Amino acid sequence: MRLLPATKSQPKEMLPVGRKPIVQYVVEELVTNGIQQMLFITGRNKASIENHFDDDPELFRALNEGDRKELLSEVNFKDLGANFFYTRQRLQRGLGDAVLCGENFAGEEPFLVALGDSILGLHAKSNVVARLAEVYESKHASCVIAVEEVPRDQTRHYGIVQPEDETADSFRIVNLIEKPKPEESPSNLAIAGRYIFSPVIFEMIRRVKPDQRGEIQLTDAIQRLCDERRRVMGVRLGPGERRYDIGNFPSYFESFVEFALADPLHGVEFRKVLERLLARA
Ligand code: G1P
Repeated sequence: MRLLPATKSQPKEMLPVGRKPIVQYVVEELVTNGIQQMLFITGRNKASIENHFDDDPELFRALNEGDRKELLSEVNFKDLGANFFYTRQRLQRGLGDAVLCGENFAGEEPFLVALGDSILGLHAKSNVVARLAEVYESKHASCVIAVEEVPRDQTRHYGIVQPEDETADSFRIVNLIEKPKPEESPSNLAIAGRYIFSPVIFEMIRRVKPDQRGEIQLTDAIQRLCDERRRVMGVRLGPGERRYDIGNFPSYFESFVEFALADPLHGVEFRKVLERLLARA
């Protein structure tokens, strides 16, 4: 709703930030972090995501013959060495319900959940997923979540965690709450859209009751892990890893401009244009 009319017939994951759609940054980040099997949980109106990652032999041939090899490597996703699978969430029943659609895919293995509308780090240069995996292994955790500090007055836009020890880079989480008012928020550490789970989460999701909007919240399922005294850990995003928020127009515009300014091909030229426009305003 917040990105209409831009998202009337296309998913927000396909909005461009600089030269690429958001979801492409997410895929590139995951591949860099060693993830090779990816299940996209899509839905009505999200078919363009599948199309984007598909082969396009005519385009590939044209780029090859035109000696546009650099561009080819950015649109031919076979070269990433990852396998893409797709399934649909039939009704919009919340993030917890979406994760449940991946149950058979995950099987008995731990798995990563990455939100397709969140870019971490400028041009997706983040290794937080690898750090989540390290903490998952070394702490024998049931769940590890990437978190980032947000201003106190913004807590109502995020899931917020209550850490046991707020100062460490990774810490145990004792409680979580989805979109609290600032005065009810246990900290200013927000869930940043990357999680690693043990398959036990599926059982917890099934126990969660829908909220007032009929949605099954993933955050509520993680709270159940905490309630059962299972180890839930948080890992802070590093300095260069901020989460680019695409959830509303002001932050989408900001993300786009920042990525465009840092673009290796067009950034320098775009900066001049922007300066000219600003001087005129
Ligand atoms: C979701 C999660 C929330 C998290 C946020 C940002 O909310 O439910 O806990 O903080 O993503 O990644 P949404 O933005 O889908 O409402």
